[in-house]
Amino acid sequence: MMPVYKDSSCSPEQRADDLLARMTLEEKIGQMIQISCSVASESEAEEWAAHRFAGSFLYAFGDTAKHLQELALSTRLGIPILFGIDAIHGHALNTGATVFPSQLSMSCSWNPELVQKAGRVTAKEVASEGLHWTFSPVLCLGRDLRWGRINETFGEDQYLAGILGAAIIKGYQGEHLADPDSILACAKHYIAYGESLGGRDSYDTSASMRKVREVFLPPFAEAVKAGCATMMASYQSVDGTPVSASEKLLKDLLKDELGFKGFVVTDWENVRNLVVRQGVAADMKEAAAKALNAGNDMIMNTPEFYYAAIELVKAGVVKESIIDQAVRRILFIKFALGLFDGKCRPQNNKHNTLACSEHLDINMKLTRESIVLLENRNNILPLKSNIKKIAVIGPNADDIQAQFGDWTYFSHPDLNPSAVPKIETWTVLRGIKELSSKYKAEVVYHKGCDIMDPEDQDIEGAARLASSADAVIAVIGDCLAQNGEYKDRADLDLSGSQQKLLEALKACGKPLIVVLVNGKPLSIPWAAKYSDALIEAFNSGMFGGKAVAEIIFGETNPSGRLSISFPYHSGQLPVYYNQLPGWHGAKYMDMPSEPLYSFGYGLSYTSFEYSNLKLSKNICNTDDTVAVNTDVRNTGSIDGMETVQLYVRDLASSVVTPVKQLKGFKKVEIKAGETVTIEIPLDIRELFIVNEAEEYVVEPGEFEIMVGPDSRDSVLHKTRLVVE
Ligand code: GLC
Repeated sequence: MMPVYKDSSCSPEQRADDLLARMTLEEKIGQMIQISCSVASESEAEEWAAHRFAGSFLYAFGDTAKHLQELALSTRLGIPILFGIDAIHGHALNTGATVFPSQLSMSCSWNPELVQKAGRVTAKEVASEGLHWTFSPVLCLGRDLRWGRINETFGEDQYLAGILGAAIIKGYQGEHLADPDSILACAKHYIAYGESLGGRDSYDTSASMRKVREVFLPPFAEAVKAGCATMMASYQSVDGTPVSASEKLLKDLLKDELGFKGFVVTDWENVRNLVVRQGVAADMKEAAAKALNAGNDMIMNTPEFYYAAIELVKAGVVKESIIDQAVRRILFIKFALGLFDGKCRPQNNKHNTLACSEHLDINMKLTRESIVLLENRNNILPLKSNIKKIAVIGPNADDIQAQFGDWTYFSHPDLNPSAVPKIETWTVLRGIKELSSKYKAEVVYHKGCDIMDPEDQDIEGAARLASSADAVIAVIGDCLAQNGEYKDRADLDLSGSQQKLLEALKACGKPLIVVLVNGKPLSIPWAAKYSDALIEAFNSGMFGGKAVAEIIFGETNPSGRLSISFPYHSGQLPVYYNQLPGWHGAKYMDMPSEPLYSFGYGLSYTSFEYSNLKLSKNICNTDDTVAVNTDVRNTGSIDGMETVQLYVRDLASSVVTPVKQLKGFKKVEIKAGETVTIEIPLDIRELFIVNEAEEYVVEPGEFEIMVGPDSRDSVLHKTRLVVE
């Protein structure tokens, strides 16, 4: 008689329960251990797979994964290993894989369908290598721009992050988790990790539970609704309690209240850090007990937890039922994934899957829609046919590492600047060169200066070259060394001699098109004011340069919209749009009140006009859905895409609420001269606030409904709605 856990006709729940009942304490606790192949030696990894039944490994690639899996399958119960990897904008730790724009870059597409497709492509490429799980999406919010990991976020807004997070999770996990191409998603870093003190990575987030619920929880709630299989507990403490020691956040809120059925993996060494960094545990046994009671199910890269947990249970300090709860969640996901039914062995289709033409097409489409046009004075773009010589100047014009951004084979698992992509890559220089041949324009290039080292520059040489051209394209921004974990910045000005370079290029008197290749908004008021055109690409992936060049030559009409605000100066932070109202402090004495660029902002080569804002009803009750309608006319001469945005303000609430909050959007193609009527459904339950008692409530009263091209008051059309 086949045991239930081996019977694929039984449910994952039944199989998990059956298997759990057969396991020893050591085999159970082994499942909770995640070993990193970037830390453990090969023999240590083999030990963990064969003799201590480690449930998961990360940073195991191809052959190593196959070998470790064989060892696991040969153990008494043959429980397959779950292989996790940071595939956060494509399977970008593999040199042959499709490298998408970063989350921040792709979030500027405001295109959930394309983001979901990017997730699907990533899943196929990760699965083709025999791996099962990506530590993505990041649902942290990019609100303090000093933080090093802004590039990994979907921007500053919880509504947009929730929509795009749910989309990419569906892409990763597919229709059915057990499908061969489906992999586990991991919503991270739970919770409020980007809001740490001073934007400093892993420092305490001083936020009340009400603030956590109101601002940071919504994207994770969307992830749970989307069926996200795993969550990652963040490094830092919230109001003094490390997340991995917080029963309130992990057990009560995430598992009990939100009903999360998957498992929680800690971030890197969280349990060890309870002792050595955060000082909330005297030793590993105390840390292990706290972590177990809080609701961490899998422990990343703290192998000593294994021995401490066994001791704790044997000493009766921790009930075995706590272990069972964690292991049951892990086994449930392994069964749901199909890991016991053949998915534990790699497919042999890797060669025709990685960066195949279908995947590249999806990437090109998404990259095109992710580029944001910020300035276009006198319609200098698209470049006109009288431009016969173009000077491409700047440190990021031909730097694929800067363009790829974080979490690729250049940056992880260890810094590897000599890695060679096996895929086609398009820097801005290559894009301009290849497209300008079509327009019979000559292209010259000069790096001009280094991104960081002020001494390393030849600004005179660059200026001389620029003077000989009809137009100058300056490609600047930041680099890998200025983004990522441990890489927060207090000063967001252009580093090195980039500002000097820009001013020297401007002095040449030629049209100056500035392209930003960067991991986060920078304080670039001079470039905003004196460039003739300004394009924001962020870390736009393997096709970034091609998409930028298509826009410069007018083959693509830009449609990107900022998912994050830009400051004039880092001292102006925070500049995110959905702040609570103040009045005296609306602005600093020495700084404008508005951000340099606002959330939702972006230009097109055509123009759009909004009219006829009306609601299907102006008085409604709390369980209604109100249709918000507006006409949008393409008043220009070329077709274009517009992202119609819907913001709401609660005009009378029991707690102070944001001056506006995004509650819907629609990206539409509108032909030149055409008018379309856009309808955005507004579910009144979305107008919730979190009151002082931390309850989610929709409070009756008057609301301001705003619709327009971005979040600036000056462009929004407004009307009122009364909720009874
Ligand atoms: C890192 C990051 C997390 C990543 C994990 C595994 O330190 O904080 O985002 O998924 O470790 O690489």
